[in-house]
Parts: sequence; C-alpha cells; structure tokens
Amino acid sequence: MNYTRSNIPLNLPDAMWQWIVKERPNQRVEASNFELVQVPIPVIQSGELLIRVLYLGLAPVMLRYMRNETSFEKPLALGDVMMGRGVGEVIRSNHPDYLPGDIIQAKMGWREYAVVNANDPYYLIYRMQHSDLPLSHGISSLAMSGFTALIGMRDIGRVTAGDRVLVSGAAGGVGSQCAMVAKALGATQVVGLAGSNAKCSQLTDQLGYDAAINYKSDSVEAQLDRLFPDGMDVYFDNVGGKLLDEVLLRINRRARIVICGRISEYLLPIEQYHAFKNIYRIGLQDAKMEAFFVYDYTSYFSEYEATLANWIRAGKLIPCEHILHGIEQMPRALMNLYDGVNIGVMMVEL
Ligand SMILES: NC(=O)c1ccc[n+]([C@@H]2O[C@H](COP(=O)([O-])OP(=O)(O)OC[C@H]3O[C@@H](n4cnc5c(N)ncnc54)[C@H](OP(=O)(O)O)[C@@H]3O)[C@@H](O)[C@H]2O)c1
Repeated sequence: MNYTRSNIPLNLPDAMWQWIVKERPNQRVEASNFELVQVPIPVIQSGELLIRVLYLGLAPVMLRYMRNETSFEKPLALGDVMMGRGVGEVIRSNHPDYLPGDIIQAKMGWREYAVVNANDPYYLIYRMQHSDLPLSHGISSLAMSGFTALIGMRDIGRVTAGDRVLVSGAAGGVGSQCAMVAKALGATQVVGLAGSNAKCSQLTDQLGYDAAINYKSDSVEAQLDRLFPDGMDVYFDNVGGKLLDEVLLRINRRARIVICGRISEYLLPIEQYHAFKNIYRIGLQDAKMEAFFVYDYTSYFSEYEATLANWIRAGKLIPCEHILHGIEQMPRALMNLYDGVNIGVMMVEL
C-alpha cells in the first residue's frame, strides 16, 4: 500500500550521493576515512519511508561510532553509509502513520535520500511538532543538543533560583544553549569556558553568559577564583579531564556536577586519560556527580520539545547554529568539531 498526499510531485532523480565509511579513524577523523559514492535512489518496502534529507547534524560521538566504541549504536562496517540524525521530508510512504510532505527527525545517515523503517524503533523517528519554527532547529534546540542542555541543567543539575553555574565546552552545540536554559530555570550567574577570545565574546554578547574564560590563554584557576569567590553550585561538564579536577576544588556544599561529555579525552588512548586527584571533594561537600545519556529519555522528548519551543518563542532561548552547505561538506564538518571551529550546533544543509 502506498500512502500519498496528492499534491506532492514525485519527480525524483535517478541517483543520489551518499558518504560511506572507507577506513576507521585513528587519533583523528580524516577526510580519507570517507568516500562519496553515487547510488540509485532506493525503492521502499512495506513499513518504510523515503525521506529527502534537508539537514544533517554532526556530533563528537560520531568518531566513536566509526570505531564501533559505543554500545548504543549498531556496529558500522566498512562500506556502510555513515550514520547520523537528520531532518527531512517524507517523499514516499509505505506506512499509514506518515504521508508525503510530513517533516520528521530520524537517524537518516549521510545521504541525500534515506530509507527509514517506521516500524523499527532504532530510527527514533519524531514528527516535527512546531511548524512555525525553522526546520534547522530540528537539529539544534528542538533535538538532541537542546534536549541535552535541558536534561543536564534541569533534571540532573536541578538548577534553581540563585544558583551559580559553570559550563565547559560553552560555545559548542550543547554549551551554546546551556546559559539560556540555566537562566530560564532561575540561575543567578552562568560562566562559560571556551577556546578562543572570539568564542568568549560570543558567549557574553549573544549566548546569555555573564562571563567567559578562554581556557587556552587565561589562567583558569585565577579566573575561577575571581568569578566564583563563593564557589559554584552546578558544573555542567562537556570536556572532562584535568579541567574537571580543577573545578572540583571550587564546588559548594550540595553542588551538582553534570557529566555531559568528555570531549578532551575522546581522541586519547585510555592510558592517557586524566587521573583524578580531587574526587574526594564530592564526599567532603556532600555533592553529587551524575552522568546521563539523552537517548535514555526518549519518552520525554515531546515535553522537552514543547518546553524549548516555548522558550524560543518567548525569546529566552536563541538557537545558535553553525551551518555548512552541501553533502560534500560532511567530513569537513565533522573534523571541524574536534578542531573547535564551530560556534553552536554544527549541521549541514543539503
Ligand atoms: N550526555 C549526552 O547525552 C550527550 C549528548 C550530546 C552531546 N554530549 C557530549 O557533550 C559534549 C559537547 O557536545 P556538542 O555536540 O556540544 O559538541 P561540539 O559542538 O562539537 O562542541 C565541542 C566543543 O568542545 C571544545 N573542545 C574540543 N576539544 C576540546 C578539548 N580537548 N578540551 C576542551 N574543549 C574542547 C571545542 O570548543 P573550544 O574551542 O571551546 O575548545 C568544540 O567546539 C561532547 O562531549 C558530547 O559527547 C553528550
């Protein structure tokens, strides 16, 4: 059975481009790890949708997908289409719940047209609920990076009125939303750590941070002492390692340390991971340190989306998006993440 909306034209090209994984990355992601190949537009089977991919998101975890290091993703064989989530338009539908013209978010892969099985929960398909907002927000604030900022600040960090908050990786996809989310929850002061003066200026000028520290050129210890003379209540950590150890010396009683990510160690072999000295501060301060994974919260996604969409409409949250154009940019966009090029959520518009 083919489900159609009669006003959608079906003049598709015969072929499309897709990126396959050619070799596994070592210490860095390289352009040579991928190959752009042309293949016929796929034919869909029962229960499947053909999607025209509009935006694809990039995330640091993709390096770990390529090395098959995560337990939550399907193993990726050499020659497979590189995995990634996107926003796209349903072009053909063999599923009664979706019609051509529907805009969805799903695991689509690095390709111009994707086949997703609407009966398979692996694809994590969501219909975009808020059609008054730009579709690119389906990669940024109304998707995993926005949900991650919200879960981390509200549900794990339990940010409340009067809290003083520090965020690392503050200019990245998640971090660029953290200050505005924390302020919407009532935080008094939010300070961000980022790797350049330009990023620090953007943090304070546009992204809701009260102050910013350039961790590459400032004395981080001195700046933390200056900006948090009375300590901090919440640390939202995207980078892990030595910086986290330093921050532990400054946490208040009953502080919450939100372990969102450890990007400073993703490219290192395990023997080079930082050996912590200051973990004792958690016990000393009756503090809490908790990690979380956004995909464990899928049953709450529509609530997160509604909350964040309302904050966007109210001007409390301004999505920050770093958009490259054209499918040929995908490897470069991923490499840029590890080089700290992006401010905000990195994505490619196809
Ligand atoms: N828990 C979850 O469910 C969840 C979900 C999504 C993401 N995450 C994690 O959250 C973190 C941020 O993700 P994202 O999507 O926001 O990433 P992103 O946009 O790629 O931002 C990463 C930023 O981290 C900084 N960075 C890179 N290498 C660094 C290093 N060695 N030390 C310190 N900073 C470094 C860079 O900015 P600078 O120029 O400032 O260094 C870079 O722009 C990642 O660790 C990711 O794995 C977790």
